[in-house]
Amino acid sequence: MSLNIIIGAQWGDEGKGRIVDYLAAGADFVARYNGGDNAGHTVNVGSKIFKLHLVPSGIVHPHTTAVMGNGMVIHPRTLIEEMTALRAAGVSIAPQRLRISPAAHLITPAHRALDNANEAARGKGKIGTTGRGIGPAYMDKAARRGLRMADLLTPDFRERLQAHLLEANRTLGLLAAPELEVEAEVESYLNQTSRLALYIHDTATELALALKQGQSVLAEGAQGTLLDIDHGTYPFVTSSSTVAPAALTGLGLGITAARDARVMGVTKAFQTRVGSGPLPTEIKGKSAERLRGTGANPWDEFGTTTGRPRRVGWLDGVLLRYAVRVNGMTDLLITKLDILSGMGKIKLCSGYTVNNTLVHDLPGGADGLAACAPVYEELPGWTEDITRVRRWKDLPKNAQNYLEKISSLAETPIKLVSLGPEREQILEL
Ligand code: IMP
Repeated sequence: MSLNIIIGAQWGDEGKGRIVDYLAAGADFVARYNGGDNAGHTVNVGSKIFKLHLVPSGIVHPHTTAVMGNGMVIHPRTLIEEMTALRAAGVSIAPQRLRISPAAHLITPAHRALDNANEAARGKGKIGTTGRGIGPAYMDKAARRGLRMADLLTPDFRERLQAHLLEANRTLGLLAAPELEVEAEVESYLNQTSRLALYIHDTATELALALKQGQSVLAEGAQGTLLDIDHGTYPFVTSSSTVAPAALTGLGLGITAARDARVMGVTKAFQTRVGSGPLPTEIKGKSAERLRGTGANPWDEFGTTTGRPRRVGWLDGVLLRYAVRVNGMTDLLITKLDILSGMGKIKLCSGYTVNNTLVHDLPGGADGLAACAPVYEELPGWTEDITRVRRWKDLPKNAQNYLEKISSLAETPIKLVSLGPEREQILEL
């Protein structure tokens, strides 16, 4: 039995896509357990770079079976577009290798319209959502009126969809937002969803059986720990459970499936965040521009889903320790170390001061973050190009020191370090 769970240790965008791509080479199943097309995972397929929002990134390895679990919310049009683009790139997409849980929820045009109308109504207090309808879809799920993949197969799906859109129009009217053309939306939605029915499969049973038979499952978390609905910087979070334990409920696995699980937390060598909310180690100016890049490269710090420039900062060791704890992290995977080359001195946040008191762990969970001022350790940087390094001993001493410091702050061993966007630019420790 082997379950490996990959989670983001920060606010998403840690580079999980390429780590999954690397690890999926050894997995039988690759599975998404949370979120929807708010996620954006960048993977290389041959010479092409793909931004996948819904389909598990590990699907680009032909031997894998990809699962979209019950914890997800699925926007049919995005999914169909992704399937078409993958096929065009030579990736086989068929019901035999892409399976969608019947209990996964659907995102409708009403959810997207409501997401945007809610954000507009929040004014200055807006969350900065991706506008993909994630919050409203999970709201309907919690309110027990959501539409699920299994509903596509029922004779009254059209009527339920119609009723859902009419109800949304009432709310949109109250928010003074444009209403939806119900009949046109219904026709177009049914046209899309009819193409997905074949992919519905009892994924929970299949995964449980696979694990029992000794096959390996790689669970791909979307977003990051600090965007988790319970453990993140509420209310500036997404609406799903992003942390590693959610891989079990989001895929329909029992707790014993995690007995020998590895929980691999991906963190960048610095901090980034999109949207509103506290970011204690945020920096502006020249250093920030260096970390962010110009947007010319796909790996620069601009949102994969929205194109928004990301806020950037020094690595926050306190938040990393927090992520280790709430996920039960067993391994650390560090991305984008190469971006720090030539930065001069590197700062690493090892504690906070809160009301004049020094703390090394998050006081009272992520909610209290706004009141925290970072305390930094300053470490000497390095100037060498490290993008071709493949062995620990070839890393500059100061880069080794930086990694050792991170590992000791997090009390977690580092398993992989990525040093560039290509598949082979990975240092395995
Ligand atoms: P939502 O998930 O679209 O509702 O957005 C809620 C918050 O989560 C916003 O701050 C988004 O910027 C953030 N967010 C959602 N998905 C991602 C992601 O994949 N990467 C980074 N931030 C995300």
